[in-house]
Amino acid sequence: MEGLTYSLARDHDVILRVVDRLETRVAEWRRTNNIERESLEKFIEFAKLFTDRCHHGKEERCLFPCLERRGIPREGGPIGVMLYEHEIGRQLIGRLEKAAEMYFAEGRGLDEVLNICEDYINLIRQHIAKENDILFPMGEKVADEGDRERTNSCYEDVELRELGEGEHHRLEELADEI
Ligand SMILES: [Fe+2]
Ligand SMILES: [Fe+2]
Repeated sequence: MEGLTYSLARDHDVILRVVDRLETRVAEWRRTNNIERESLEKFIEFAKLFTDRCHHGKEERCLFPCLERRGIPREGGPIGVMLYEHEIGRQLIGRLEKAAEMYFAEGRGLDEVLNICEDYINLIRQHIAKENDILFPMGEKVADEGDRERTNSCYEDVELRELGEGEHHRLEELADEI
């Protein structure tokens, strides 16, 4: 049986690869004073579907409830902080979509688009570091065999329900096209 957080840590590797690529693009776009539409739109699609809907869905619906049952507090504890940061990420992507729409329609607001990208990159990196270094090891310590089974089958359900068959793989490939 896989560990409690193995599937989530694997998602983190893909998400970190994407933010590394985005960081390179942002530097390029600042230099050339031009944003490549296709590349930014692929990033937004990845952030909404893979990172938020699927990965954060797996954490919020499968892992966090399990940790709460094992006594790790939600309010005033690490889970509350993680939920708050998921929400900040959602808001940043919402703002990014609007700013990008204006930029591509009217050619205005390049700095705004790139600044939001940078805020998102910083948020995601420190968020994932906290999960990988603190929350996930904490979870592995308190989980038993039943928790691991339930949580892993919950991850599969969320992936299937939120993305559908094959979509997880397609998005992983999209990650390399940003
Ligand atoms: Fe998270
Ligand atoms: Fe995560």
